[in-house]
Amino acid sequence: CGIVGYIGSREAYPVVLKGLKRLEYRGYDSAGVALLNHGMKVYKKKGKVAQLEEEVIGKDIQSNIGIGHTRWATHGEPSDRNAHPHVSNNGKLAMIHNGIIENYVSIKNELLKKGYTFKSDTDTEVLLNFIGDIKTNNECSLEEAVRIALKRVVGAYVILLIDEDTPDTIIAARKGSPLVIGIGKNEHFLASDASPIIEYTKEVVYVNDYELAIVKADELILKNLGNEKITPYVQKLDLELAAIEKGGYDHFMIKEINEQPHTIYDCLRGRLDPVAGTITMAGVQNNIEQLKNAQRIVMIACGTSWHAGLVAEYVFEELCRIPVEVEYASEFRYRNPVINKGDVIIAISQSGETADTIVAIDKAKEQGAFIFGVVNVVGSSIARLSHAGAYTHAGPEIGVASTKAFTAQLAVLTMVALKIALEKGTITHDRYMHLLNELHEIPDKVKLLLEDAENVKAIGLKYKDAGDFLYLGRGYNFPVALEGALKLKEISYIHAEGYPAAEMKHGPIALVDEKLPVVFVATKDAYYDKIVSNIQEIKARKGQVIAVITENDETIPTMSNDIMFVPEADEIVAPMLSVIPLQLLSYYIGVAKGLDVDKPRNLAKSVTVE
Ligand code: G6P
Repeated sequence: CGIVGYIGSREAYPVVLKGLKRLEYRGYDSAGVALLNHGMKVYKKKGKVAQLEEEVIGKDIQSNIGIGHTRWATHGEPSDRNAHPHVSNNGKLAMIHNGIIENYVSIKNELLKKGYTFKSDTDTEVLLNFIGDIKTNNECSLEEAVRIALKRVVGAYVILLIDEDTPDTIIAARKGSPLVIGIGKNEHFLASDASPIIEYTKEVVYVNDYELAIVKADELILKNLGNEKITPYVQKLDLELAAIEKGGYDHFMIKEINEQPHTIYDCLRGRLDPVAGTITMAGVQNNIEQLKNAQRIVMIACGTSWHAGLVAEYVFEELCRIPVEVEYASEFRYRNPVINKGDVIIAISQSGETADTIVAIDKAKEQGAFIFGVVNVVGSSIARLSHAGAYTHAGPEIGVASTKAFTAQLAVLTMVALKIALEKGTITHDRYMHLLNELHEIPDKVKLLLEDAENVKAIGLKYKDAGDFLYLGRGYNFPVALEGALKLKEISYIHAEGYPAAEMKHGPIALVDEKLPVVFVATKDAYYDKIVSNIQEIKARKGQVIAVITENDETIPTMSNDIMFVPEADEIVAPMLSVIPLQLLSYYIGVAKGLDVDKPRNLAKSVTVE
């Protein structure tokens, strides 16, 4: 979910609404605002922020204080009544919430016994009335009531509250979900991330877990749950407005796909020197003993970041000769994992806020593991939880389906592996120098392959009505096949399955008929001859073969229906190229089907609940 708050001398509604639009990628099941001006006014609506905006036309929106929310449903279906903000039974408090209150049922039962009623199915309304109840019974301030309530709460949250009795204050608190406060001149902005804030101010405070903020127009007080004041640590944002706008493209997704020559370049810049033969990464250098002596590396991540971990598994095992496991963060956390001294955890996350990954890190830390974070969002929770790490520097990624963050993750992970391999002596000097050059050339090669976009678009149009797709690859390109299938599912709602090309004959081959498009990721690598045989197996069963191949390949075109080219590259870096036609393919199919590719149904960019 995305949350926004404003207090100051401007009209709050336009600021909050614009903020919600910037945060909409975090969830878009419903949206709402609460404003205070001689009483509480709450407007909320199922659907996207634009629907809320329509709903509010002609309504009283005058106010200098407001909170707003765009929702990704957890408790209760997306609907007007489950939309945030929620209002307390006495009508005086309004609250928005991102997260999950795990013990809400027991609290709700207590409140029901006291005669409280609930209009929604949400855990949020329960917490709000619990706070309201404490405030009334204890005759205390809202701030005090929040503090008492939160001590009882199990779960994760960011909450923003406003109160008719104190119309000059927003109370905010966080545990586990992100909250940034922007400091203006006699005004404050609150949001889930910095994107709604940067056009007003670059001075921000990141609120930490178990902290409470008491925010007035001209004052920001931070306290812990023990009611002790904390000095806010004010940081300067290093982010430009242009980075979060579409800049002439139809969608963020295609803008971000096209940004990849720059984002990969930015990721390598200042780190990789192919002439001197150096990779400068302080996070690796300062912890090199720990890293090179790792008995095992465990990658933990979700979604696309998990696929980056899978590619990295091949890279690390090959170059560093360290055993690697790649785990879904959510599974790792809950199965009592074996973590030994000497294990290194690499946590991979674009947002740095994915709840599943955060709890997995907490678990690993409890057991004494060393955590290396590969994160895109600077200052995010995972970046701060890690002992060391390397940022991917891909810039803000707004399209819900991850594209440029993935290739930047691959670039960072490859550099980390190369650096460890050099220190460990598991790579020859020649191979090391060769791979540095290969990495260095990636941005230009990406630029080249993007010129083939029209061809990919035509292929997309040809297959857009297929009901299923199979994606196959081997070795380094197997995770790319998984990622290609995931992109298609996310963006076009076409069922797609990624599989190791050789394993296909043990099951999915039963699906093959003349209607099934089968995408082969078949660039020239050590597995090339094998995958050519797999293509023959599909052809023999009349499947439609679409192949991603190296540009000088003369064999595969003779046995394929459609071809997408990528420039020649060493197999270790090839996934940074071969994934891009697949990103484009899913984009063009989604657009051709008339879908909202930046905000596919049911998904959210940062899933800040477990
Ligand atoms: C969500 C997004 C995916 C993303 C995953 C992990 O499911 O929709 O695109 O890959 O979360 O996110 P992270 O920010 O941790 O990389």
